Amino acid sequence: MGRVVVVAAVIGVATAVAVAAVVGRRFVRKWRRRAKALAIVKEVEEKCATPIAKLRQVADAMTVEMHAGLASEGGSKLKMLITYVDNLPTGDEEGLFYALDLGGTNFRVLRVQLGGKGGGIVSQEFTEVSIPPKLMVGSSSALFEYIASKLAKFVAEEGPDFQIHPGRQRELGFTFSFPVMQTSIDSGNLIKWTKGFSIDDTVGKDIVAELTKAMEKQGLDMRVTALVNDTVGTLAGGRYTDKDVIAAVILGTGTNAAYVERAQAIPKWHGLLPKSGEMVINMEWGNFRSSHLPLTEFDHALDMESLNPGEQVYEKIISGMYLGDIVRRVLCKMAEEASFFGDTVPPKLKVPFTLRTPDMSAMHHDTSADLSVVGNKLKTIFEIQDSSLESRKVVIELCNIIATRGARLAAAGMLGILKKLGKDTLNDSEGQRFVIAMDGGLYEHYDAYSKCLEDTVAELLGEVVSQNIVIQHSMDGSGIGAALLAASHSQYLEG
Ligand code: GLC
Repeated sequence: MGRVVVVAAVIGVATAVAVAAVVGRRFVRKWRRRAKALAIVKEVEEKCATPIAKLRQVADAMTVEMHAGLASEGGSKLKMLITYVDNLPTGDEEGLFYALDLGGTNFRVLRVQLGGKGGGIVSQEFTEVSIPPKLMVGSSSALFEYIASKLAKFVAEEGPDFQIHPGRQRELGFTFSFPVMQTSIDSGNLIKWTKGFSIDDTVGKDIVAELTKAMEKQGLDMRVTALVNDTVGTLAGGRYTDKDVIAAVILGTGTNAAYVERAQAIPKWHGLLPKSGEMVINMEWGNFRSSHLPLTEFDHALDMESLNPGEQVYEKIISGMYLGDIVRRVLCKMAEEASFFGDTVPPKLKVPFTLRTPDMSAMHHDTSADLSVVGNKLKTIFEIQDSSLESRKVVIELCNIIATRGARLAAAGMLGILKKLGKDTLNDSEGQRFVIAMDGGLYEHYDAYSKCLEDTVAELLGEVVSQNIVIQHSMDGSGIGAALLAASHSQYLEG
């Protein structure tokens, strides 16, 4: 009997030791994986760091490049495009005008009835249409004919609230949010596509001629009287309601800025000096690059695999089209090298652009106790069934690192513009208010991003100067702004 007990005890102890060894090994493996995953995040955090001193270097580099781009064509990565907008809306605009806003995965068409002096916007209507992905990489005629058909339908459905002057042709402001070398307010040639569009047969062509051809094919008698970038439209729309607007920034699928420049400060402008002595410049700042930009291996890989490698480098670390994909790339490395999501790498994690920035934003803003939003997103997007609370926290941390870098660098770009205009310090204009109109889905919907951007601008400017600089959300400004510019460049205006 005693022997049996001893044998059983020995077996029991041996089993316990074996189990403990297995559990211990598992624990050590888990601990190692966790440490490795955290090390990857830490490294990303260090590489993405944007201390104030670095932001000042970025801002200075932006100012230098602005000067270079204004001095000569091709003098800088910043194109500093002349827009032929030398008179921003005054509030006197009157009549019915249309706008077409093309620049992302959706386009919008709108009509605005303007009341003239003091009358403001009497009524407006719009419709939004998504662009079938195949048209973003197809042929120019396919894209423009699709757009023109929707525009024709929109005009056909016009109600009695909108009245065109009898005998007049309809006039359109065309917001085309890509880099265009303008030849006048109503013509310009496409320099290149950005933001995932790639339609080779349009590059170098006059965009207004392309649209006009397509509208004629639809039997639509409409004239494009203003061709504008979305930044320029936002600036114009902002100025209509607030005379202190001096610049506009878009933070959406892509990013860019426009501002009002003194004509004398544009050496490459060989034409006549504009009457007002001012000219709106479309910076195309998405193409900015500088050795001071904090770039990681993930940014380089994203760039190399993009449709436009080596281009739009600033845009690729700041804007909505790319932020989610940077996060995905880091998570993928964590899954591959630290088994962050278990023994196998979830296949969806390897697919580019599966994590969209709105989903990243939703995870970043998750305040639930069990971070269920993060858990659900990981499940629906990457088919990761069971994520631990701890891993969800790490995902949020990563979203924060990537969004913070983008927002702080965008703020540095804004400081660069204010420096160029001499409005970053106290001077004669002390106490005067200057407004930067902002628009774009990223700014509008990613609260943590826009808050960080605003805080950083204030931090960079200091308490006193930042009281004079107002960042103002100009909702849908780019479309309305284009309609306003169509009005101020109408073929029916006297003189
Ligand atoms: C891209 C385009 C630019 C546009 C910006 C924001 O950077 O090149 O023209 O203004 O996106 O939509």
